[in-house]
Amino acid sequence: MCNAHTCVLNRTKAVCRHQELTRVPHDLPRIIIFLDISYNNLTVINSSELSEYKSLQTLLMNDNILEFLHFDAFCGLSLLIELSLARNNLHVDRAYPNGLFKPLINLSELDISQNMKKNTNDSTKYTIPVNELKHLNKLTIDLVHQPHFGEHFRKMRELEVLIFDFCFVELLTNKTFMNMPNNVSELFLNTCRHFVVIETNALFYFNNLNTLDFSGSNIHLSRALNALYPFQNRKIDNVLFRGITYQELGQDVDIVLTNDMIKYIKSMCVQTLDLSNNLIVKIVNESLLSLDHPECLQNLLLSANRFSLDNFATDFFKFLHRAKQLKLVDYSYIPIAYNEPLFLDINGNNYRKVLGVDRYYGSKIIPFVRLPSHLEYVRFSHIMAATGMKEIVLANSSLRHLEISNFKTYVFPKFTFEGTNNLTYLDISGISAETTIGKFPVLQHLESLVMKNAQLYKLLWNNTNIFKWAPNLQSLDLSYNYIWRIQDATLGNLPYLRNLNLSHNMFNVIPKVLMTFKFLAYLDLSINQLTNIPKYIRDWVDLQQEKRQFNFFLNKNPYICSCDTIDFLFWTSKTKVKLDRNGNYLCWIPIKNGKSRYMHNILKFFRDYFGECKAKMWLQIGTGLLSFTICALLISTLVYNFRWRIIFFFYRTFRRFVERRLDVMFKYDVYVSYSDDCEAFLKLLSGVIEKDWGFKMCCQDRDFTVGAPSADERVKHIHCSRDIIFLVTPSFNDNEWIHFEIERAKYEKITKYLQKIVVITKGISLADIQSEFATIWQEVLFIEWPTEEEEKAKAWQKLKLWLF
Ligand SMILES: *[C@@H]1O[C@H](CO)[C@@H](O)[C@H](O)[C@H]1NC(C)=O
Ligand SMILES: *[C@@H]1O[C@H](CO)[C@@H](O)[C@H](O)[C@H]1NC(C)=O
Ligand SMILES: *[C@@H]1O[C@H](CO)[C@@H](O)[C@H](O)[C@H]1NC(C)=O
Ligand SMILES: *[C@@H]1O[C@H](CO)[C@@H](O)[C@H](O)[C@H]1NC(C)=O
Ligand SMILES: *[C@@H]1O[C@H](CO)[C@@H](O)[C@H](O)[C@H]1NC(C)=O
Repeated sequence: MCNAHTCVLNRTKAVCRHQELTRVPHDLPRIIIFLDISYNNLTVINSSELSEYKSLQTLLMNDNILEFLHFDAFCGLSLLIELSLARNNLHVDRAYPNGLFKPLINLSELDISQNMKKNTNDSTKYTIPVNELKHLNKLTIDLVHQPHFGEHFRKMRELEVLIFDFCFVELLTNKTFMNMPNNVSELFLNTCRHFVVIETNALFYFNNLNTLDFSGSNIHLSRALNALYPFQNRKIDNVLFRGITYQELGQDVDIVLTNDMIKYIKSMCVQTLDLSNNLIVKIVNESLLSLDHPECLQNLLLSANRFSLDNFATDFFKFLHRAKQLKLVDYSYIPIAYNEPLFLDINGNNYRKVLGVDRYYGSKIIPFVRLPSHLEYVRFSHIMAATGMKEIVLANSSLRHLEISNFKTYVFPKFTFEGTNNLTYLDISGISAETTIGKFPVLQHLESLVMKNAQLYKLLWNNTNIFKWAPNLQSLDLSYNYIWRIQDATLGNLPYLRNLNLSHNMFNVIPKVLMTFKFLAYLDLSINQLTNIPKYIRDWVDLQQEKRQFNFFLNKNPYICSCDTIDFLFWTSKTKVKLDRNGNYLCWIPIKNGKSRYMHNILKFFRDYFGECKAKMWLQIGTGLLSFTICALLISTLVYNFRWRIIFFFYRTFRRFVERRLDVMFKYDVYVSYSDDCEAFLKLLSGVIEKDWGFKMCCQDRDFTVGAPSADERVKHIHCSRDIIFLVTPSFNDNEWIHFEIERAKYEKITKYLQKIVVITKGISLADIQSEFATIWQEVLFIEWPTEEEEKAKAWQKLKLWLF
């Protein structure tokens, strides 16, 4: 029989995944110590089938269709340390014959989980001969609906880690774990989807438990806390109850953490307490804060619940001070209330929206909070609350890591450091930079600053040296900030900057100021608007590479591969700089009808693509001359307004020609976005644009398909229009759709279909709408609609010139 296989061999390691093997390959080197035959079609392991590989220490046979193991299957594998048979069809009550594990005298880890795929309602005896595994340390196994563990389980004297994976159990009685070996120190029960009832003393037999992890199982917090009954007055390092309270159908399970619920854990000494994601809506003052041993706590995780610190904030922070060893506090993802909530005032059948009165909320702002000096890691992120803290004071603090991102409260706190500070990591993402900058003193030790999604473009506009409070930064993440330009002095000199992340911005040229960062070794400009990397940047990057490894991330930019940019194309394949995707980026090729191809493919068939580059060059000079002529003509029309019609005809015809070449077909010439209060002006506009100038205009009340979803219609019509006009009137801010349309316009502009964006303001000043258009500012044409007749004529002319 031919045992042809294509295993990947690497000295003493053999990996034979996805080979459709039905038997263990026999022609591998005898000396291998690692063998992975996962993802094959093994159904059975026959007698001595593996006995040739006597040196094996790790054997992985996951994801096969094994149903039976011969009692001699592992004969000779006395050195085996790890055996994994997960995701097969091995039943704990019949697939494992006695004697099977006898040869495995050194086995320390066994994974036979996710084999019991069906839920049976009968009691299942675990006949698997685990008593032969004298030195087993870690066991991963399924927990069936009605498990019956025999006394032989007690023989695994050295078992410390017990993981149940695939859990169908619904009732854990006082007796269920009766035969479990008593050296188990870590118990994991994370996959029980059926509601599990745990009798009070069910965990009694785990005498030496040190980690109890129920995370993810459907247990309900109050039951889980109740199961701690046998551990009263004991020390357990980790009590991990994340996400164990499930929303039952139609039932309200919101949890109020009361004294009664914590009666057992109260007397315990716990290092890590994780109560995240449990629908806790309120913590009664005396409960959590009245633990007998707060000094044991090192990590406290309370995220993704719904309780507020409202009336117990003061006591909570006092508690943090009492927990003398506490290093990590995580209190994130707490949506309590939104700023300025709108309420409904109902009067008979009518209702109107009213703004909540501030009186009530205003009083809840905490003037200042003094964080305990022993805290090292604090995460307060994604908090949306009607309260707030004015000032956070840190005295001689050990704090290294602070995340205070997406923090939407009434005020953003000011930070004061007294004495030394060791803060090295700060994340203030998701909050407008205008709010956060200025709230921190000089942080000498700060190495990493993350400011994702912080609307930084607003600051880069006209500020200098904005990071002077963090002079020693090594890593700076400014992704998702709509930045398209950085002026030379904005960032300051940051002499130690090594890692700069500018991905997800809108650069179409790489700012020259980056070349002043001498130690830069990681630069991420992926997902921007770069069409080419110019020579001076490439040269600089290569120069950096000579000094140290330079990592350059450039993927997902709309590169253009044309005769002008082939230098860049070649550079990606020969530079020593480490590029993401190995420099194999997608690139748009105008020559081949605008298809996109990966650069490596283009290089392979280079001649097919760029054989005619020289000829093209002459064509370009010709086109250049032509466009020069057009410009000249255009200027002359400005002077001689009456020649307008000639140029109109010429330019339009020319552009149609270009468009046909580009394969862009527009259904409308111009899309008009407007609010209800400018109907009269709209009529006037359509009269001029459609009747006098002959353009096809798209406006929602007339051209949208009746009954189709509004957003889809807008997207579709904006996409089919060559230009867009925004009529901005005082009701602008009330019209959500206009904002949507602006976003679409930005998108279409970026994808290069939309050609012109014209903004006509009427009765509203430019300053009011500046931020809306900030990211596309340079490309927007503004007209402030005048009131005098004479001026109006000029404005029409301006518009006409832009639209043609
Ligand atoms: C192996 O199993 C896969 C998936 O079940 C199946 O498509 C394939 O035909 C099997 N190959 C052999 C040789 O049995
Ligand atoms: C198992 O626990 C017993 C006490 O219950 C102890 O004497 C023994 O040393 C432990 N064995 C191991 C390997 O930890
Ligand atoms: C389980 O043990 C606890 C504590 O010993 C006891 O109160 C309870 O009645 C027991 N439950 C059952 C069903 O035996
Ligand atoms: C909360 O409990 C502490 C002691 O446990 C007490 O001193 C404090 O007054 C309580 N606060 C409130 C608001 O009940
Ligand atoms: C830069 O930031 C983006 C988005 O936050 C992230 O996906 C990417 O991994 C970061 N790049 C580097 C080099 O860390």
